Order: sequence, then C-alpha cells, then structure tokens
Amino acid sequence: MFDKGGPFFERARELIGDGLVVCPHRLHRQQRRVLQPAFHRNRMPGYMADTAERVAQGTAGWQDGHPADITDDLQAISTRILVSAMFSSTLPQPLFTQIAQDATTVMSMVAQRMLIPTSWRWIRPPGDRRYRQAHARLQESLQKIVTDGRTTDTAQDDLLTMLLKARQSPAGGHPSARSEEGMSDQEIFNQLMTFLLAGSETTAGTMAWALYELALQPDLQQQVHNEIDTVLGGQPVTHRHLADLKLLGRVISETLRLHAPAWLITRTATTDTTLGRHRIPAGATVAYSAYTLHHRADLYPNPERFDPDRWLPSRGTPPSGAYLPFAQSARKCIGDVFATTEATLVLAAILTQWQFHPDPTQPRPPKPPIGAISKAPITLRPTRRGS
Ligand code: HEM
Repeated sequence: MFDKGGPFFERARELIGDGLVVCPHRLHRQQRRVLQPAFHRNRMPGYMADTAERVAQGTAGWQDGHPADITDDLQAISTRILVSAMFSSTLPQPLFTQIAQDATTVMSMVAQRMLIPTSWRWIRPPGDRRYRQAHARLQESLQKIVTDGRTTDTAQDDLLTMLLKARQSPAGGHPSARSEEGMSDQEIFNQLMTFLLAGSETTAGTMAWALYELALQPDLQQQVHNEIDTVLGGQPVTHRHLADLKLLGRVISETLRLHAPAWLITRTATTDTTLGRHRIPAGATVAYSAYTLHHRADLYPNPERFDPDRWLPSRGTPPSGAYLPFAQSARKCIGDVFATTEATLVLAAILTQWQFHPDPTQPRPPKPPIGAISKAPITLRPTRRGS
C-alpha cells in the first residue's frame, strides 16, 4: 500500500542507486536478508576496533579553551570509522585518507542536493565542482577496491568481505531459490555509498547534539565524566565497556529523542487507500515526522527538557510507536546497533580527555539547515580535563 517514494527518494536513487535505503519493496526483502548478518551485534567489536585512533585523529586540531566546529570534526570521525568498518584497516594510508576525505565532502553536500527536485537539475548548488570531483574519485576508488577484493582471497572481517561473499537469489527471487549469485560490482558500490550516506551524518549529528546538551548542563556532564572514569579506570575505551556506560547510553537515547536526525520520512501510496480518517489517492506522497512525535507533551512530559533519566528502567518505556529515531518494522534502520555503539564509544573516548562549554560566539541554539537530516553546525569550547 505504501512504498519508498517521493522526491527525496527519487533524487537519492539517482545519486546512490537502488541500495537498501531507497530500493522499492519488491527488491527489499532479498537485499535485507543478504546484508543483515553484516550488522549483527557480534560484528561490532571488530568494526569499532580502531575507534580510539580515529577519535585521536579527529580531535587533534582542538586547542584548550578555543571554540571548535565539533559537527564537522565528528563527521570526519564518523566517516573514518565507517570506512574502517567497510575495508578493515588494511587499505594503504593515503588511499584510506583520500576515501575518507572524498566521502566526507560528498556526504556533507549530498543531503542538500537531494532537496533539489529532479526537474531543476540544471541548478548548480555551491561547491558543485568540488562535489563532482570527490564523487567521481570516490566511485573510482571504491570500484578498484571491489575489483581487487574479488581477485584477492583475504580473510578480512569487514563489511566489504561480507558483501563479496554474500549470495543472493537472482532477480528478487525467493531466498530459497536454488540458483544463487553474488552481487555485481555496481550493487556493492551502491550499498557502500548507501552506508556512507545513511550512517555518517546521522551518527555525527547525534554525537554533536549530545555534547551540546552536556555543555548546557555542567552537573550532568560531571556525572557522565564520573561514570566514564569509574568504568574505564584509566584504560582506553573498548567495546567491552559498553554495557557499563549506562548514563552515557541514556544520554544518547535522549539525544535521539530530542534531536531525531532523520526527522521527516516519506512514502508513496501505491494504491488508493485510507489512513485514519483520510483518503489517500494512489501516487500521493505521505510524510511522518519522528521529530514531532518525540516532542509531544502527552507522550513525553516536559518534552523540551533534556532529561536522560526518562530512560531509567524504573521510569518505564514509552508506548509502542512513540519513539522512532530508527523507524520500525521492515524498513527499520539496519545500522541502529552500529550507530549507538559508535556514539557511545566515540563520546566516551572524547569525554575522557575533554570537557565542553557553550561557545560564547554562538549565543543562540544552533539551527539545523533544512534537509532530511537534522545535523546542525554546532561549535563548542572544549577544555582539557585536569588542566
Ligand atoms: C543515529 C544514527 C542513525 C539514525 C538516526 C538512522 C535512522 C534511520 C531511519 C529513520 C531509517 C528508516 C528510513 C525510512 O524508513 O525511510 C534508516 C534506515 C537505514 N539506515 Fe539508518 N540511521 C542511523 C545510522 C545508520 C548507520 C550507522 C547505518 C549503516 C552503517 C545506517 C544504515 C541504514 C540503512 C541501510 C537503512 C535502510 C534499511 C532498510 O530499508 O532496510 N543507518 N535509518
């Protein structure tokens, strides 16, 4: 009755092909079945193995007490973690850096491009040339890695190896069909671009808003620091600390409520249908907003207040369907565990070293640009802890 559609998805399809986020229902089940194992919880320790190193690189430019554009820095960290998870750490360093830079350039501009209707494609948005160059180079690099991956028999534990080994039944056939084939290079490229598009800005935006909220509540930030110090005991954060970082986990849940990154989702009606009291004609675009839902006072008392303790087990859980940062049902985010694991580990690594204060040169709350993803340009003033 409803399928992926509307101008946003049509434009996205032109840019990243029929990867998992935009593919229509008829192609979805098979793609999801093939990709799901790559996002199993037990794969996360491997994907996140070099988080501390990525954080150290991404925060290297911060100076004690000076304002920093944390959204951009977190975007670079998040993209590097994704690229590591895709290709493990075996890429030559210059190629890794090139891919991470090109992916960051493309992803930071792609969301705005998606808002330009197909019929206005003649519009050249700012930075168009840089975007096109980065996109072409990224495509070339990824295609070379995929080709090399086919000819080298590696035992890597990364996303690319999972995709190269994945078998699918032809032309959307039933998974139990006997004749199975691997993904084409183009299909693998589309899925890798999809992960970059779906996974970097969303997670980076969440982490930036979490630090922003902590900067506004020094007492809460102190409690988070205390938790991290106790759990880590002076060691670098790793996946095994995850379960004990409970307050930080609640901070992330509350950030995803108050600042849901994918704030507006659309679908197209495939037949004439009704939704509640509304008649929806075939072809109409419908939209729902997790952001609006998460700000409803009947579901979340005092909804504008950032209160991680809403998520204490003793306070109960919101009614079914009231908390949708990752959507739900068949098209639920495949990267939800990846995103929350990454956010917890990256924030713990950063907060071990740094304390955050509002930036006096950014006196008003940062406003997200109009786009599908509510990533706002946030600057904060980091100071070194203990200095
Ligand atoms: C905080 C971070 C994230 C948020 C808030 C988020 C949110 C969402 C939402 C709301 C959807 C549903 C879209 C729809 O119904 O049209 C979605 C789908 C998806 N997300 Fe995420 N996402 C995040 C991180 C990630 C990461 C890290 C990855 C991959 C590495 C990822 C990959 C995907 C994919 C492939 C889909 C399509 C799933 C399908 O249709 O089967 N996301 N995400």
